[in-house]
Amino acid sequence: MDRHADTGIGFIGGGHMAQAIAAGLLRAGHSPAALAVAEPLPATRERWRALHAGIRTGSDNTAVAAQADVLVLAVKPQVMPAVLAALEPVPRPAAQLVVSVAAGVTLATLARALGESPNAVRVMPNQPALVGEGMSVLVASACVDARARALAMYVAEATGKALWITDESLMDAVTAVSGSGPAYFYLLMELMEQSAVALGLPPDVARTLVRQTALGAARAAADPQADVAALRSSVTSPGGTTAAALAVLEQAGIGDILRRALTAARDRGAELGRGAR
Ligand SMILES: NC(=O)c1ccc[n+]([C@@H]2O[C@H](COP(=O)([O-])OP(=O)(O)OC[C@H]3O[C@@H](n4cnc5c(N)ncnc54)[C@H](OP(=O)(O)O)[C@@H]3O)[C@@H](O)[C@H]2O)c1
Repeated sequence: MDRHADTGIGFIGGGHMAQAIAAGLLRAGHSPAALAVAEPLPATRERWRALHAGIRTGSDNTAVAAQADVLVLAVKPQVMPAVLAALEPVPRPAAQLVVSVAAGVTLATLARALGESPNAVRVMPNQPALVGEGMSVLVASACVDARARALAMYVAEATGKALWITDESLMDAVTAVSGSGPAYFYLLMELMEQSAVALGLPPDVARTLVRQTALGAARAAADPQADVAALRSSVTSPGGTTAAALAVLEQAGIGDILRRALTAARDRGAELGRGAR
């Protein structure tokens, strides 16, 4: 059993991301009795009880915040100012680690709301966390100690892979790559399915071919040592079918299109972040 498995972890907001993290923690052997959630919607609290009957559920943010060793803030960014303001006067354990998964909510905002030097970690997860294949990126201010960092990593890794960055200003770029990234791959799959149908394949065959191909390519590229350019060349014989397709994509400027798309996402993240401050 992991040394963190009995750590009290409380969630403020019990929506999709919080449920994904809790499910991952339970899969990793975390004690259900050490998990608690504050969530306003009764139907959502019911889903937590379905996750595990031992999880404490309620609607009082204060009660969860007052007890948790790790407090996971998992409300929508626009709700965060009100949630933080209500938490400010609540006496919380001195060494409590606060983990915020809210997009655009900065460490400075957390520090302002939660006191001078809170043990606060900002995490950018992504949607495949819901199937245990998430990519989370963590950042914390230099004063956060090794114990708190290890705990934050334990929480983040419950939903997939996780890594630290040291420069918070890169969080908007992270959001553009791994945060929004699943949508780029979904779009590619959607468009490939449509093209496959246009070529005469039955829709169910098109769907299976595209999704299994995406999964297979992702698995082949999953090893960080894998060279994706080499993988691509290995399916691209000169003058062959793949080369014909890639020539069309290159002529259409796919590299430039992706650069512009990711830059737009990064810039929009920065803009939203400025609004959230
Ligand atoms: N889902 C993702 O793929 C993803 C990826 C990256 C980051 N995130 C971040 O994760 C956070 C949560 O996203 P989500 O997709 O899990 O959203 P969600 O499903 O809407 O979850 C938010 C939950 O917070 C509850 N809530 C609202 N006001 C509250 C309050 N005052 N106190 C306590 N709980 C409250 C909501 O209840 P009601 O339903 O009653 O409003 C809802 O259940 C966001 O900040 C988002 O930026 C999510």
